[in-house]
Amino acid sequence: MPREDTRAHERADVIVVGSGIAGCAAALAAAREGADVLVLTKASRPDEASTDWAQGGISTTRGDSEALERDIFEASDWTADEDAVEVLVSDADHAVHDVLVDTLEIEFDRDGDDFDYAREAAHSERRILHVDASTGTHILRPFLDHVDDHDRIEVRDDTAVLRLIAHEGTVHGVVSDEDSEGRPIYAGATILATGGIGSLYTRSTNPPGSTGDGIAMAALAGADVADMEYVQFHPTAYTGSEGPGASENGSGEAASDDPFLLSEALRGEGAILLNGDGDRFMPEYHEDGELAPRDVVARAVARERERTGEVLLDVSTLEEPFADAFPDLAAECAERGVAGDRIPVAPCEHFLCGGIDVDDRGRTSLDGLYAVGECARTGVHGANRLASTSLLEGLVWGLRAGEGAALDVDGEAGPTLVEAPELLNSDPDLPPRFAAEKFTRLRRTMDEYLGLERDPDGIARAGAILRRLKGEVDAYVRTRTARDLYELRNASVTALLIARAARENEASVGCHYVVEEAEVGPPTGD
Ligand code: SIN
Repeated sequence: MPREDTRAHERADVIVVGSGIAGCAAALAAAREGADVLVLTKASRPDEASTDWAQGGISTTRGDSEALERDIFEASDWTADEDAVEVLVSDADHAVHDVLVDTLEIEFDRDGDDFDYAREAAHSERRILHVDASTGTHILRPFLDHVDDHDRIEVRDDTAVLRLIAHEGTVHGVVSDEDSEGRPIYAGATILATGGIGSLYTRSTNPPGSTGDGIAMAALAGADVADMEYVQFHPTAYTGSEGPGASENGSGEAASDDPFLLSEALRGEGAILLNGDGDRFMPEYHEDGELAPRDVVARAVARERERTGEVLLDVSTLEEPFADAFPDLAAECAERGVAGDRIPVAPCEHFLCGGIDVDDRGRTSLDGLYAVGECARTGVHGANRLASTSLLEGLVWGLRAGEGAALDVDGEAGPTLVEAPELLNSDPDLPPRFAAEKFTRLRRTMDEYLGLERDPDGIARAGAILRRLKGEVDAYVRTRTARDLYELRNASVTALLIARAARENEASVGCHYVVEEAEVGPPTGD
């Protein structure tokens, strides 16, 4: 029998870590099944989640599941998992209508009596529900209000989870940072919904604090991870003041000139890409031009920037004027002083297709532990994600995991109180700028060797640098519980998992594009 923890402890039926669409869906579904749910989020405003930053929208099948399935497979270069895609498309319309339309009453944009379905790259149909190009905000804020008002759900913000309480292949809860040496909180089921890994790169479309926390904690507790090499870059982020150090988006605040996304919906409605010579180049890279899969467009943009100095997203070719069709993006451009119809863009880290390996109910390889949303690898995206499927995946798997977790919990007996890890905080002060400097080294390594294009020597070099860095960080974690130190620990573990997966996968596919030497310009067809 595991030793019981004698320290003061709290309990919940289900703990959800994270407050984006996947976390909210999981909390709602578990509460609907009668579980008492505790949502822990390290954000001081729970809406500081990637969901809030999502622009384009949420895909539906619009009555043609097979067409959506086909587009997902094609975008993934035929690497998506068939069973997972089947789950996504078969649950999609019901989940969207039940939760977003009927329960939260989100007013998606309409065209007369019907929804105004948008189109994005690699979608063969108009099938995306949206609210302007700020769909995430319009979904998440009412969702959080709803969850917050639920009498079975408590949302605790500004609360980071530092460790999982794991014993012999089962997770029994978490250790939060509410006490200086960590506070154990026990639960019958723990659902990780901690989002992405944008803070591992210098430029990302993710909010600050996207440090791969759930992935790292799950992996350290022994859970399987998969597809970690498939880091997706969005082709069109405003370049702003790019370059190393432009965006201290790890534990620091987002700067006003941080890269911001120019949604794929712009290209869906007719925007085109021009290189520094003023020429349209996408048709030379792919027969679908600007609507090619995201990995193809991102690499083409990077190569044309390298070859001709810059790439501009031309919004003068939109069917409607930019400011009428995309008022929120036009306002954002104006706020940042971007004048005219041609907006300078560059690829930017956007989404991790892999993560904690889960089944069709969000169950991980550890009992009592679930993962949903971007931190999870369901298999839906394979090597490259189709636009506007991430909110949908978070919603569908969030609902499935929340329901399953609640049913797994034995409310009568309560959680098992195994001994929780004891965290020391005997030497709380860190050397000045320790975390910031290590984050800078980590990001430079990821940018240089594990970005859009990789080569075997670079991947090996990244592995060596990251191993050293993790060793340096671990030495401090042994005697300190500072949140930024834990974020750095999580980022270094996650970065190493990416390097390892990249080294082990010799096949160049989707977002894992391996070259022997730098390639410039469109493929020659040799
Ligand atoms: C976008 O609006 O371009 C992003 C949509 C997505 O990542 O699915």
